[in-house]
Amino acid sequence: MVCSTFRSPVFPVLRPGAIDTPSRAVLKCDVPSRKVTEFTSRRTHLFNFDRLKRIVQGFSKAKVLVVGDLILDEFIWGNVSRISPEAPVPVVWVESENFMPGGASNVAANIRSLGGEVHLAGVVGEDSRGEILRTLLHKKGVRCEGIIEDPARPTTQKTRVIAHHQQVVRIDRETQHHISGPSLERIVEYIREKLPQVDALIIEDYGKGVIVPKLVSEAVRIARRHGKVITVDPKETHFNYYRGATTITPNHHEAATMVGFKIKDDASLEKAGRKLLKKLHLESALITLGENGMSLFQHGRKTCRIPTVAQEVFDVSGAGDTVISAYTLSRASGALAADAAFISNCAAGIVVGKVGVAVTSAEELLPRLKVEVDKWKR
Ligand SMILES: Nc1ncnc2c1ncn2[C@@H]1O[C@H](COP(=O)(O)OP(=O)(O)OP(=O)(O)O)[C@@H](O)[C@H]1O
Ligand SMILES: [Mg+2]
Repeated sequence: MVCSTFRSPVFPVLRPGAIDTPSRAVLKCDVPSRKVTEFTSRRTHLFNFDRLKRIVQGFSKAKVLVVGDLILDEFIWGNVSRISPEAPVPVVWVESENFMPGGASNVAANIRSLGGEVHLAGVVGEDSRGEILRTLLHKKGVRCEGIIEDPARPTTQKTRVIAHHQQVVRIDRETQHHISGPSLERIVEYIREKLPQVDALIIEDYGKGVIVPKLVSEAVRIARRHGKVITVDPKETHFNYYRGATTITPNHHEAATMVGFKIKDDASLEKAGRKLLKKLHLESALITLGENGMSLFQHGRKTCRIPTVAQEVFDVSGAGDTVISAYTLSRASGALAADAAFISNCAAGIVVGKVGVAVTSAEELLPRLKVEVDKWKR
């Protein structure tokens, strides 16, 4: 999920202007900080660099189908030096603008960047934003034949206006209506055709209407029949949709909503992971813990807790997208769940150290994995 938390939020000194004492509260738009929950770390698994290296080297042969909510992220960068005479709002003088693939499109971009082949299925509107998104994805090497145009909905777009490293406002264009009729039929038909040709399926659910029960049950049914890995980045309110998937990757806030109780310590985390495994008949559940890393739950095995690897954190946006991308590529390359989790945690640690919604590559990942495996042994 893209929810930019920029470092050094220095807001400019406002020139005395059209209105008296502009309220910083009006202008300042910090993302509410998350409550930090402490979890202890136990080294229950052994990791071997040569084994992890072979997995990462296999990324270039892996094929993944990503199905989910497509988002076009727009960033408008500028400066503020005065308050509007029309309303108590800052006037942003635009310096630059750019577009990025968001939501399921960002997962596809992550997979490409890590070296995998990726086919993307989802819905855009019959509008210029859909065109921009497709062009961006095409340039990155994402296969876009599964992107359906639906004249009844707009392409989901999130526009962030950023002045002096501080988000001033976000403008969303979207409908959350469930897809139906010909759009649903076409996307399900595409999944039926494509699934046998790939190694893994990612369901990326941002709750924007593409991931509906009929689509998930059909995708899971076919993927299971063909023995494919199925990973899900869940929408917390869609608990029952994902029965039969291989792995789900909620963050701990989402996991808490899904299980119906707070995750505040090791015991509640353990209970939540086990409940997800059991209720959804999963092979594994990977709960990400932000600055505390992640926990992997598997039937009949001790929970694997992996602490975070980031040296410096610049922007945590999209870290969850990197986790599911690297985890799924690893599984598609034959990795065991614990090895896949370790690799995905390392990949996320790299992207949070970059500014903006970032991605990483196999070349960046390998030296970092070596360092992390050595640290783990100590
Ligand atoms: N502050 C941080 N410091 C170090 N690593 C981090 C931090 N935040 C996230 N990570 C890494 O990124 C992974 C995923 O982060 P998080 O649990 O925040 O996922 P998320 O909430 O799904 O992210 P997204 O906003 O992309 O949906 C973590 O498991 C961890 O490896
Ligand atoms: Mg997430």
